[in-house]
Amino acid sequence: MSIAVCPGSFDPVTNGHLDVIKRVAAQFDEVIVTVLINKSKKGMFTIEERMAMIAEATSGLSNVRVDSWHGLLVHYAQQNEVTAIVKGLRGANDFDYELQMAQMNTALTGIDTFFVPANPQFGFLSSSLVKEVATYGGDVAEMLPKSVHAKLLARLAE
Ligand code: PNS
Repeated sequence: MSIAVCPGSFDPVTNGHLDVIKRVAAQFDEVIVTVLINKSKKGMFTIEERMAMIAEATSGLSNVRVDSWHGLLVHYAQQNEVTAIVKGLRGANDFDYELQMAQMNTALTGIDTFFVPANPQFGFLSSSLVKEVATYGGDVAEMLPKSVHAKLLARLAE
């Protein structure tokens, strides 16, 4: 059985992430979207909030589940019988960084990473940029699932 992990911070999940997750779900038997916990980086949303937003946005995909992890991604992969890491690539900057991580992960455990080119419609999207634009009143409604957009606006209003 092929099991892909789509790891990330997802603070919060964007339509760009979801496009990649849907395409990965069409290629693998099972997809685990895993929120990586980085204790040195304070996010806008808690890990539980991020997981709930992803779960809601992917509820229509029967082979996708959501999880979280603190530690090395390769250890998560080993413990969950993951057969491949899958990442979206927006451009050359992503590639340089992702290639290095993919090669490190292969060196550590032999696991392979597959890259999915971002849909050009979402090529400029990142969670950080969406948060920055929304913080200063920019309209990001088309860049996020409806419920995530509502939660982002609510968090900014707090
Ligand atoms: O959404 P992000 O922040 O770009 O995701 C990066 C992430 C979390 C996938 C990456 O930093 C990662 O895999 N972290 C887990 C810790 C780890 O395995 N580090 C070594 C990578 S070679």
